Amino acid sequence: MGRIEGKVALISGTGGGQGRAAALRFAREGAKVFGCDLNAGAQQETLDLMQAEGLRMAGGGSVDLSDPVQASAWVEAAVAEFGCIDILYNNASAARFGSIADMSIDDWHYTLRNELDIVFFPTKYAWPHLAVRGGVIINISSVAAWGASTVTGIGAHSAAKAGVVAVTRQMAIEGIKSRIRAVSISPGVIATPGTLPFLANPATRSILLDGVPMERPGESDEVVATALFIASDEASYITGTDIVVDGGMLAL
Ligand SMILES: NC(=O)c1ccc[n+]([C@@H]2O[C@H](COP(=O)([O-])OP(=O)(O)OC[C@H]3O[C@@H](n4cnc5c(N)ncnc54)[C@H](O)[C@@H]3O)[C@@H](O)[C@H]2O)c1
Repeated sequence: MGRIEGKVALISGTGGGQGRAAALRFAREGAKVFGCDLNAGAQQETLDLMQAEGLRMAGGGSVDLSDPVQASAWVEAAVAEFGCIDILYNNASAARFGSIADMSIDDWHYTLRNELDIVFFPTKYAWPHLAVRGGVIINISSVAAWGASTVTGIGAHSAAKAGVVAVTRQMAIEGIKSRIRAVSISPGVIATPGTLPFLANPATRSILLDGVPMERPGESDEVVATALFIASDEASYITGTDIVVDGGMLAL
């Protein structure tokens, strides 16, 4: 028996680094995984990897979860496939960066849409299904929710991810009577396809890892292990909080 055997888990961004790792791990732990990604090719690669391991994932690309119509359709397709929802893992996101003075209005709205709306829309539509027999919402935030940067213009990213932490608290409180738990996770620097070019370059690597006491990036599997614990019944008394997975960065 896996740790989340038979649970229906909707995971967004399953074509990306952490989403792919989550799809694989959750399926290995017995979950019925329903994924999606904006990038249909990357989603197909994850499907191929899973099939090679004898694992299954339903759902496909290309789905844009920053569009409420597509978010609703994704949730309803999962319910049509599996009949219920036990876990909603809001992992997908995309951000644009720029200083307060230079960031365009378009980039600001793009980031809020693709980092905050993208959490709210699937949750809103999944809520009545999660409420049927209780469930878990896992929202991926970032250490950017907890601090500014002297190196990169993370204003929009930071605001959106702080919004993810804040809305998670409200989800947790509103979810109590329906036995829905909600927890956010704030990763630090994680080695994924998005960060790989920066981590491969010694100059940008040292900038990225400056202030990380463990002196290494985290792995997707280290974030997913935390999410798996939160998704499992072992975390039955944990709700409304944020869990930081950052190699000690915020401790400094
Ligand atoms: N990698 C890091 O260092 C790091 C640090 C802190 C937080 N995070 C967070 O972790 C989560 C996973 O990030 P990752 O590192 O795996 O990044 P990633 O870019 O590898 O994966 C994100 C995936 O989300 C998909 N996506 C983007 N916009 C979408 C949309 N509108 N609809 C559907 N899918 C969409 C992308 O196509 C991509 O496959 C994100 O929420 C990210 O903000 C990452």
